[in-house]
Amino acid sequence: MELSLLEQTDQKSNTRLSRIGKILIYSTGGLALGVSALCIPFISPAFRKICLPYVPATTEQIIGVTNALKGRSGTLLDVGSGDGRIVFTAAKLGFTAHGVELNSVLVYYSRLAALINRQNWSTRFYKKNLWHFNLKPYNNIVIFGVEHMMPEFERKLLLEVDNGTTVVACRFPLPNMVPMETIGHGVDTVWKYIVKR
Ligand SMILES: C[S@@+](CC[C@H](N)C(=O)[O-])C[C@H]1O[C@@H](n2cnc3c(N)ncnc32)[C@H](O)[C@@H]1O
Ligand SMILES: *[C@@H]1O[C@H](CO)[C@@H](O)[C@H](O)[C@H]1NC(C)=O
Ligand SMILES: *[C@@H]1O[C@H](CO)[C@@H](O)[C@H](O)[C@H]1NC(C)=O
Repeated sequence: MELSLLEQTDQKSNTRLSRIGKILIYSTGGLALGVSALCIPFISPAFRKICLPYVPATTEQIIGVTNALKGRSGTLLDVGSGDGRIVFTAAKLGFTAHGVELNSVLVYYSRLAALINRQNWSTRFYKKNLWHFNLKPYNNIVIFGVEHMMPEFERKLLLEVDNGTTVVACRFPLPNMVPMETIGHGVDTVWKYIVKR
């Protein structure tokens, strides 16, 4: 399931690298389950704001995010960057792409994947809690969150980001802002917003 990320490594990469890649693939497969399982006991109302389980974006969601970002450039933050797949996609599109992720294993994985892929050493992954991370430097923000955190996240956005910032929400929309575009269907829906303030 984690193949896509490492498949991007060019075909000619040497076998030692691909072996490391395979180890990463297998360990993150288990990791996804482990991290999600860890989260379940905490999904009580009091913890919903904090607990955002690791569910990697599907290919359809990544295509949706890519479409939503058409015509945009500059800095981009993936909030809760998981294994880094959205950050890597954005880097390929030419953004200065960063991720913020609470789970240190996923952060180390992303940093290592960035090195192995070679494709973008300008990506940056912060091991931080998103609720304590300043969104202001970014004029593009991607979030694949959980429903319960979206109202609080919308408040945070409106407090911190500049006018004109594009926000792309995957799977769950922002509760009050009106999207300028809705891409895809069902769980793969992506909403595009422009912050006006
Ligand atoms: C639904 S996953 C999305 C992963 C990635 N953005 C993607 O699309 O593949 C949400 C991620 O947010 C992370 N996360 C949860 N709570 C967080 C917090 N308070 N601060 C930063 N990251 C958090 C989880 O560890 C998880 O990797
Ligand atoms: C990062 O990605 C951009 C866009 O694809 C590319 O132009 C640049 O060379 C990459 N940087 C590195 C260090 O690979
Ligand atoms: C905010 O940005 C929009 C374009 O995205 C612009 O039309 C508008 O004038 C800006 N508002 C302020 C207060 O700068």
